[in-house]
Formats: sequence, C-alpha cells, structure tokens
Amino acid sequence: MVSLKGRFLCQACGAVFSKWLGQCDVCKEWNSVVEETVGETEINDLTTVPENFFTRLDVSTTQFIASRHKTNISELDRVLGGGLVDSSVILLGGAPGIGKSTLLLQIVSDIPSINEFIYLSAEESIGQVLMRARRLGISNPKLKVASTTNLNQIFNALNTIQPNSLVIIDSIQTVFSEAIQSPPGSVSQVRYCTVELVNFAKSHNVIVIIVGHVTKDGTIAGPKTLEHMVDCVLSFEGDRTCDYRILRGEKNRYGPIDEIGVFSMTNTGLKEVSNPSAAFLSDRNSKISGIAVFSGIEGTRPILSEIQALVSVTGLQIPRRTAIGFDINRLSMIVAVLSKRCRLQFSNKDIYVNIAGGLRINEPAADLAVAAAIISSTFNTPMPVNSVFFGEIGLSGEVRQSYLAFSRLKEASKLGYCNAYASIPGDISELNIKVCQIKFVKELLEIVRSKHQSNSEAAS
Ligand code: TYD
Ligand code: MG
Repeated sequence: MVSLKGRFLCQACGAVFSKWLGQCDVCKEWNSVVEETVGETEINDLTTVPENFFTRLDVSTTQFIASRHKTNISELDRVLGGGLVDSSVILLGGAPGIGKSTLLLQIVSDIPSINEFIYLSAEESIGQVLMRARRLGISNPKLKVASTTNLNQIFNALNTIQPNSLVIIDSIQTVFSEAIQSPPGSVSQVRYCTVELVNFAKSHNVIVIIVGHVTKDGTIAGPKTLEHMVDCVLSFEGDRTCDYRILRGEKNRYGPIDEIGVFSMTNTGLKEVSNPSAAFLSDRNSKISGIAVFSGIEGTRPILSEIQALVSVTGLQIPRRTAIGFDINRLSMIVAVLSKRCRLQFSNKDIYVNIAGGLRINEPAADLAVAAAIISSTFNTPMPVNSVFFGEIGLSGEVRQSYLAFSRLKEASKLGYCNAYASIPGDISELNIKVCQIKFVKELLEIVRSKHQSNSEAAS
C-alpha cells in the first residue's frame, strides 16, 4: 500500500518535496510549489501474466508494423516523417494565438484512410469551432465536434470509437479528471490526463493529438516528463505579428527531428509555403548595412534566411546584447571573438541581432553570417550584394567547415545568389556560384574595410 498524501509539487518542473517551499530547489521558480493530495493506491500482487507476454524479435514479423496516414498537408507530413502513425500520441505546443487550433482543424478536414475524426475543444464552444471551420471552408461528414473539459466524459463518449480514428484534445491544460483533486492545468492533472490519453490511444488503436500551452520561456507547460510520455512533440512557432509560422519536430519516435514545415497565416487559414528560402528574404540587392544572408539547413532542407544586426552607441553603463531568433550566448561569444581577433571596440555599443520572418536558428553555421551582419553595421557598409554566408566561428577566430555545404551552395545558386563566403575545400565548379574562402573571421573584416574605404574615397 502506497500513500502519497500531502506531497508538494513544483508546477513548473514537477519536482516533489515533503514540505512547502517559496522557491523550487530544482528549477528556482518562485511560488510554484503547491500541495497536492493524491489518493491511496492498492497494489495487486496477484496480477496474472498472459501467455504471450513476450514477443520474439524477428524482422520478418509484419504483425506490429504500424501504418502511416498521409495528411492533406505535405509540410506536416514532412515534419512527422511521412504522415501520422497508427496509435501514436502527438503533443503540439505553441504560444497562444499562433494557430494551433487552426492547423488542427485543417488536419481534420480530410484524411481518406482515417475512419472517424473527433475534435474535442476544451477551450472554445462548439459555435466558435464551427464558425472557424466555416471560415476555413472545412466540411467533413466524418468529423464530430464536442466542447467538454471532463476526461471521464470524453472516454465514455469515445467508448465505441472505430480503430484508425483521429482524436484531437484542445488543450491538455483545460481538461481534467475527477480522479485527481488538483485543478485543471496543474502538474498532477496534466500528467494524469496525458497518461490516460496515451493508454486510450494504444488500447483503441486511435491517433491522439494533444495541444499543450507553452510557458513564457517557450517550453510546454507542465512537467518535462509530459514530453517523454508521448511519441512525438511538435512545436508551432513564429512571430504573431508576422505571417510565417514554423512547425518544428522536437521529438519523433517514428521519424527525423529538427525537420521544419513552413506555413503562412492568411485570412482563409494556414497555407503551405513551398519555397521557404524565397519567403524569408527581402530585397536581396538592397544597399542596407547590417544585413547578411545565411544559407542554413533545417532538418534535411536548405533554407536561406536574412540576418539583421544593429550596432549603435549605448547610453547604458552595461551595453545591451539582444537576439531575436538566435541564441544570446552564441551572440556574446561572436562579439567577444570579433573584439579580440578583429580588434573591434564593442564595450560602448549596443548590439541587436534579429532573424527576419520570425525564424529561429540553432545552427552554429550561422556564426559567420551573424558576424558579417555585425561588421557590416559597425562600418555602416553593406555586404557585397547577392552573397550568402555560412560557417561556425571558433574561439580563435577560425571559420570551420559546415556540413552539407554543397546543398547550401546549391540552394543559394538556385535562388540567384552568385557569391558565397564560407570555409569550403574542394571543387564546386558545377555550381553557378563563386566561393570566396574565409578561413579566419578577420578576412571578412578586410572585405568590409576595403569596401568602406573605397566608398569613403568615392564620396570625398
Ligand atoms: P488559433 O488557431 O486560435 O491559435 P491557437 O489555437 O494557437 O491559440 O489562431 C488564432 C489566430 O489566427 C488569430 O489571431 C487569428 C488568426 N487567423 C487568421 O489569421 N486566419 C484564419 O483563417 C484563422 C482561422 C485564424
Ligand atoms: Mg486554440
């Protein structure tokens, strides 16, 4: 017999304590520890083990091979690794208003191989869901909609659901089970409801997509263990003020991760962006300083994006370093390397870096493009037109080679770029692009400096 009465749980990280704390010892969040009472559980020691408890590993067995259901959204299929897998549970996270409910309604608009579609909205009324469906032009006779927050009611209603169906729970933070005494959205509720939904998906052979809210730092609210329970974690990102939305695979038991799907939000719902590289670039021939185009790789796909930097004299004692869509620690490192190896003075300068279009870049290969944008802004001199940059910068200022360099150059060449600044050995003569090899970040500085000097001479 196990008693878990009167335990204290951190609502941010899920850590368990025996007494109340003002600040969580584990994640250091303030006022996140609350008392939760959980009923006593009887453990049945006489649980019988069925005869076929173990299955022999045999590659010729086809009995357990799950099939995939291709959706009508190819960008989603790309992120999932080829479609929705039978009996899988997918967690879709994203900031409020980013378009999660819209995307899910578009998914349930039709998938021929799915028998039934159930959309359970725990946040919106049926009228609101139907209004949105009408706006999106969705009409699917196989789709049933309900508005409820009670998990037990959901399971009772879905008792006779056909196998190969798709159930959407929007969202996990608003559903609750009567078996748990804590309020909806609390760690215990979210965890319990997710476990029950995973069991339901596996036992009824249905696909379940769960919407999860994100906290202010971008992680899915509730304990990290939630992400371990499900088969796939997708995050829907983007700047609400921009049209572009990015669907990113963060965990996938049945496919690759870090693959992205690109959408644009229009007044008739989400539209797939077939050529993301072109979408994230503005006027490539612009003569504006502080801009460098980065040829990056997202999953398996090369994507070009525009990196903007602004270096300005600060009025603050400690200069500001701000990065949107880029890791702030990496920015600090690049600035330190530029100060030390290129002898640039940034101690009295604010530095802002922004990735255009609401894209988030995690690749170290973006270092050279970020450095190029910063140098360009420092000298108020535009980078050579029609150029792309990529390469990881080391602490000694050396530029490292990047993987899939050929794909990056090919994508740049396809979009009409004719110069690439990168550390690349070998022959790429088959591509219509001139590679200017950069081995040390200092060489980039020379390019901008000589351009800056010739511009000043022309002006005088
Ligand atoms: P929604 O799917 O409700 O976001 P979430 O479920 O992630 O909270 O999306 C809401 C936003 O999307 C809202 O700001 C309006 C916008 N939107 C459009 O621009 N066009 C559309 O066709 C729809 C349905 C929504
Ligand atoms: Mg919603």
